[in-house]
Amino acid sequence: MNSVIEIENLTKEFDGLVAINHITLNVGEGEIFGFLGPNGAGKTTAVKMLCTILNPTSGSAKVCGYDIVRQRDKVRECIGIVFQDRAIDTFLTGKENLDFHARMYHLDRKTRQKRVAEVLDLMDLKGKENMRISDCSGGTQRRFEVARGFLNHPKVLFLDEPTLGLDVQARRNLWDYIKLLNEKEGITIILTTHYMEEADYLCHRVAIIDQGRIIAIDSPEKLKQAVGLNLISLQVAQDSSGSLVDSLKQLSWIKKIEARDGSLELSIDGGEERIPELIDFADNRGLVISSIKLYKPSLEDTFLHFTGKTIREVEGSLKEVWKAWMRSRGKR
Ligand SMILES: Nc1ncnc2c1ncn2[C@@H]1O[C@H](COP(=O)(O)OP(=O)(O)OP(=O)(O)O)[C@@H](O)[C@H]1O
Ligand SMILES: [Mg+2]
Repeated sequence: MNSVIEIENLTKEFDGLVAINHITLNVGEGEIFGFLGPNGAGKTTAVKMLCTILNPTSGSAKVCGYDIVRQRDKVRECIGIVFQDRAIDTFLTGKENLDFHARMYHLDRKTRQKRVAEVLDLMDLKGKENMRISDCSGGTQRRFEVARGFLNHPKVLFLDEPTLGLDVQARRNLWDYIKLLNEKEGITIILTTHYMEEADYLCHRVAIIDQGRIIAIDSPEKLKQAVGLNLISLQVAQDSSGSLVDSLKQLSWIKKIEARDGSLELSIDGGEERIPELIDFADNRGLVISSIKLYKPSLEDTFLHFTGKTIREVEGSLKEVWKAWMRSRGKR
């Protein structure tokens, strides 16, 4: 696979604060690649450097083969961006916004009309194009922003927190358009998110980023596997799980057994194939399993595994810092 993005030891410091700390990675053509991390992890800073909005403190990166510092204009020609903060003219209609953007790229009238119709079609915005943006729902506004982002046929599209602030339905809806865009137009997509489900659903590969450092990079599947153990929760019909616990200890692939709310939770080495084995095992001892469920680790568990904390704990602690700062301001 050809690399569209090559990042080497990229670093950004703001007055002594290291927002991005020596990151090195490549992104292949046609990939949907995600930066997953909590607030303040450095995701936007990384994207801004790749989009030539910020200069790195040290290290280097190439986008579509062009250096982000020395060949800024070339980089800009081959990318599209959807910023974390909304940046669309709410007094204009969706179509006017798209048309204006197309003019900035110097597309002639005919090409402009054709391309605007294409992107409206792909993002399923036909029928909404003449509504003023301020009258559109948050999800539709965001879809217009994404449509604008790939108007100029970019090779790489950057989406910084594309679904932040959208409700669950609008978020899922946008995910499907992002997938479609990647498949139909073959665009490489770099997105940032702090939603585990988003990274899991959309990304071919994910970089888990925490305090400016990349902690792990792999497919969501592999990252989850790295956490290791799956969990089986089971209930037996008879009230004799005590004897079951003793015999289960014979099975080497069961690493831990815990009784919880009338169920047994088994940390297991393996997956689905263990379920029939367990049913047979209980059956041979005259026990009937009344319910059995397999839980695989989520990306949330993965984040915990690699960083030692949950993504919510990190965001929670940032909120505390923020609240304390606001309180101290109030006292001043
Ligand atoms: N222009 C700036 N000047 C000083 N510090 C900055 C600047 N931009 C970002 N930072 C700091 O760099 C760190 C990383 O910020 P960044 O916005 O890249 O994080 P993020 O992962 O995008 O967070 P979020 O999920 O909240 O969008 C933060 O501590 C932030 O306060
Ligand atoms: Mg950000």
